Amino acid sequence: MDVYEAVTSRRAVRGFADRQVPRQVLERVLSAAAWSPSGSNLQPWHAYVLTGGPLAELKRRAGERVAAGDPWDEREYEMYPPALPSPYHERRSAFGKERYSALGIEREDWEARQRAAAGNWQCFGAPAALFCYIHRDMGRPQWSDVGMYLQTVMLLLRADGLHSCPQMAWSVYRGTVAEILSPPDDLILFCGMSIGFEDVTAESIRTGRAPLEETVTFVTGTTSRGET
Ligand SMILES: Cc1cc2nc3c(=O)[nH]c(=O)nc-3n(C[C@H](O)[C@H](O)[C@H](O)COP(=O)(O)O)c2cc1C
Repeated sequence: MDVYEAVTSRRAVRGFADRQVPRQVLERVLSAAAWSPSGSNLQPWHAYVLTGGPLAELKRRAGERVAAGDPWDEREYEMYPPALPSPYHERRSAFGKERYSALGIEREDWEARQRAAAGNWQCFGAPAALFCYIHRDMGRPQWSDVGMYLQTVMLLLRADGLHSCPQMAWSVYRGTVAEILSPPDDLILFCGMSIGFEDVTAESIRTGRAPLEETVTFVTGTTSRGET
């Protein structure tokens, strides 16, 4: 699979098949992802991979919290600015509309939306999950490094026929994740990532993207040698 195919075939998959992910594949992917760039090569990502019994236990505990209507853990970072300016607000609404209408859920049906969102804490049925932490003293550039690392992981997973879903949703149950992983106190959970083979029978969406002109500005001109 070439890089373009890996990039364009990656989607946030929210339905996974009941098929294990071989340990050696995860090791190969994560060994290669370690080559992701980072400012001054800090490599500020701390990844934990969960499978088998520990993942089942995490899903069980998270499921109990959801069923009990347990309040979310105190935020360690804001997922989105409180007032999303245009065009981000519109893009977020468009995504919500795409996601919930694919599931046949009405905009006003808050309970059905909550039920769909609860799939996050079952890793959408995935047999493997990665939890990515960052040291709490790290700044925005290092959070961006972690993003590059996570995208590299997701693209490499595609090369092995696997899919993924990055999930900030896990940050609201970070205490439950910590019960299973026991991370050091100086780490913040940025997000989880469900990993597995896609359940092709599950509902899926292909999100759109803004046209190139909306997000990219080419600044061009002719040099004295006539080059553009
Ligand atoms: C950092 C990050 C966190 C995300 N958190 C969630 C999440 O908690 N739950 C979820 O279903 N999708 C989550 N997503 C997936 C996005 O909704 C998805 O990437 C976006 O809508 C674009 O769609 P695509 O990935 O299918 O191209 C997250 C994506 C990123 C990059």
